[in-house]
Amino acid sequence: MRRPTSCQLALLLLFLNLCRGQGSDSGDGRSDSGDGRSSCHRCDSHLSCNCSHGGFTHIPVVTDRALTIDLSCNAIATVMDDDLMGHTRLRALDLHGNGLAAIQPSAFDSLWSLEELDLSDNQLAALNYRWFRKLEALQQLNLLSNPYSCLGSPPLFQGLIQLRRLAFGGPALEELRRGDLSGVTQLEELTVHANNLTRYESGTLADIWPLGRVTLSLHGPFLTNMPVASAVLGDVSYPETPITLEDLHLIGNWSVQPLRESARKRIRHLSFRNLSVSDEAVVSLLVVVDGVPITYLSVDGITLTGEGRWEKASYTDQRSIDEFFAQDVVVLDVFKFFSLLDLKFLLQYLRRVSVINSKVFVMPCITSKLLVNLQYLDLSDNLLTDLTLVETLCGDHETLKELRVLNISGNPLKSLSTVSRLVTKLSKLTHLDVSRTGYISMPPSCPWPSTLRHLNISGAKLTTTTPCLPATLEVLDLSNNNLRGFTQHLPVLRELHLSGNKFLSLPPGQLFPNLQTLTIHGEPVGRVHLSIVTCHRVLFVSVSCGLVLVVGVLLGVFLWRLHAFWYLKMTWAWLKAKHSSRCRQRHRVIEGSEALLSFDAFVSYSERDAGWVENFLVPELEEPSESDSGDPRTLRSLTLCLHKRDFLPGHWIVDNIMSAMERSRRTVFILSENFVQSDWCRYELDFSHFWLFDGHAGGEAAILVLLEPLSKDDVPKRFYKLRKLMSSTTYLEWPREEERRPEFWRSLRKALRGGDEDD
Ligand SMILES: *[C@@H]1O[C@H](CO)[C@@H](O)[C@H](O)[C@H]1NC(C)=O
Ligand SMILES: *[C@@H]1O[C@H](CO)[C@@H](O)[C@H](O)[C@H]1NC(C)=O
Ligand SMILES: *[C@@H]1O[C@H](CO)[C@@H](O)[C@H](O)[C@H]1NC(C)=O
Ligand SMILES: *[C@@H]1O[C@H](CO)[C@@H](O)[C@H](O)[C@H]1NC(C)=O
Ligand SMILES: *[C@@H]1O[C@H](CO)[C@@H](O)[C@H](O)[C@H]1NC(C)=O
Repeated sequence: MRRPTSCQLALLLLFLNLCRGQGSDSGDGRSDSGDGRSSCHRCDSHLSCNCSHGGFTHIPVVTDRALTIDLSCNAIATVMDDDLMGHTRLRALDLHGNGLAAIQPSAFDSLWSLEELDLSDNQLAALNYRWFRKLEALQQLNLLSNPYSCLGSPPLFQGLIQLRRLAFGGPALEELRRGDLSGVTQLEELTVHANNLTRYESGTLADIWPLGRVTLSLHGPFLTNMPVASAVLGDVSYPETPITLEDLHLIGNWSVQPLRESARKRIRHLSFRNLSVSDEAVVSLLVVVDGVPITYLSVDGITLTGEGRWEKASYTDQRSIDEFFAQDVVVLDVFKFFSLLDLKFLLQYLRRVSVINSKVFVMPCITSKLLVNLQYLDLSDNLLTDLTLVETLCGDHETLKELRVLNISGNPLKSLSTVSRLVTKLSKLTHLDVSRTGYISMPPSCPWPSTLRHLNISGAKLTTTTPCLPATLEVLDLSNNNLRGFTQHLPVLRELHLSGNKFLSLPPGQLFPNLQTLTIHGEPVGRVHLSIVTCHRVLFVSVSCGLVLVVGVLLGVFLWRLHAFWYLKMTWAWLKAKHSSRCRQRHRVIEGSEALLSFDAFVSYSERDAGWVENFLVPELEEPSESDSGDPRTLRSLTLCLHKRDFLPGHWIVDNIMSAMERSRRTVFILSENFVQSDWCRYELDFSHFWLFDGHAGGEAAILVLLEPLSKDDVPKRFYKLRKLMSSTTYLEWPREEERRPEFWRSLRKALRGGDEDD
């Protein structure tokens, strides 16, 4: 026996390793340890363990060196006291989305280093202050979307002196009492979901200061319990605190009254998320904030139920408004929506306007003319076209003349020359973002404002670049196009982004003498999933070739079993013969001659029946003996065409058969067992041609002679023509008995002369 090579040994070792690896760890990083607790090994080199979506029903065993454990979206119903024992280094624990209903009081006691804890989206019906009492390092706590109706006492967050981000509340939260947040003195971010809040003790949230960003969901209070809404808002409103209000449905002039509290505290940043609002409420809102130094107003997800008739608020003072941001705006009755013409009182002060992803197809020129102070306009992800952009930018030198930044990315724009021509009028424009548009080509040259420094044409469909790109550019983003090269000279360019193209080589450096940043990377190598074809080309080609070969052989065998090659050969022969036959016919037509019938019959027979043909058939028909009785006409000798004797040597067999049949009045097929067993091929050829000439009239021109009894069913199915012939034509059987033979010859002669007898 041969000794295994080192390669074989290596393969064996690899195999053994694989088997052992599978024993201790199923592919998804889950496994059972001895005491029945499963464990999670999905930790990366930063000791961040991702055990999310692992199907765990209990806290799994995770290395106690872990810094981050993500256990979100499992089915952990309970956290036991000793589940997390020893995790003294843990910084972040995520238990979000588990259906967690119970946490034992000391479950988190060893997590001294924990900075982030997420318990949101669970089934905790009551919160326990003992969970948090050892978490002195905790900076971020999320308790949202649990079915507790109050925070409970003693105060939960008493010992959390490091807490900076706090989120609590949910659909069941009904009550907040003074002291609930004692110990919380300073936050960067506070989120309270209180859509069903019914009882609020004034001052509950008032002790938190400084207070960063605040997000409040107060759907119910704004609709039905205005004093609660006012009290909450009053407690968190400070000039420096951006406030976001979620899920509000503002209808009448009364529904915005709680905002008076914020207005009184002179807030500066007001945002709404998921808002539906009527015209009356918009007017009231503008009235409420009359003279308040609000600089930033934003709406993210707003449904306007009215017609845009806000002019009743035109007397209000909005001069401090600086930026308006709107995203995902839905206008319910877009066809009745009023123009913004009467909003001059509001629009003239704005310096930054964003209306993103709101199905804006045009901003009318008259509106653009109102935006006299506009410096920043973001209309990305809308439905602007080249045509409506002409309207929006008006095309004169006065409109939007302060504009510095224009962002029209993500619009169905087609012509780069149109946009370049339009923005040339914007004499202060420095940034133009036309990314994610439909630009396919670049004109040879384009006008641009001389101030343009940043141009973003990423995510378009450009295949080449031209000197259309202005020489003033400092930042150019051409990533995610179909470029194959980049050779434009840009003397002051600092940043060039070319990732996601089809470059074969880097652009020559001397074209951009001031370049500081060039990004041209594709995906990180680790994340690239090259197909097998690219990675193992040789292997792939060999395997494919092998497969093709095997399939080819199998197919060949299969086809051979079905006699497909034979059919193929026949078809080809047939086609070729038919062609030459047609040639001959055409020839005859040209020469005006009739087909020359040189033979009375073409005899088609098997080589093995040659004896019978030569000894009986030929003598009998070609040299009728005088002894045969009958009238002389009957005894006229017949001329037979035998392939052996009468075929022209050197001609192709099919051609020969063809012309023999053409020149013969009848075709006699001599059938016997022999033909079924051996010479079927030639026979079939003859049959094909026979049918070729006599197709429909075949029954008369063909004469079948059976040398031995043979039924239609003895004939293989694939000779369907013969079978058909046998069922449509009566055949003559060669009698074994001597005395019946004259009868046979008579019948044969009669059949051969057929038509002659009639005239
Ligand atoms: C919260 O309020 C909504 C209506 O805003 C109501 O449908 C829901 O039942 C309430 N949920 C709870 C838990 O009280
Ligand atoms: C938006 O607010 C409505 C109440 O006005 C609420 O029913 C709905 O769930 C909210 N939608 C989202 C996505 O939060
Ligand atoms: C609300 O509007 C009604 C008329 O629609 C008016 O009588 C009432 O004074 C308004 N209330 C406030 C607070 O603006
Ligand atoms: C334009 O908008 C897109 C998408 O909203 C954003 O990614 C891009 O940074 C914006 N460009 C500028 C110059 O603000
Ligand atoms: C260009 O636009 C794309 C898509 O809007 C954005 O992701 C990218 O950051 C922008 N490039 C620069 C340099 O701002």
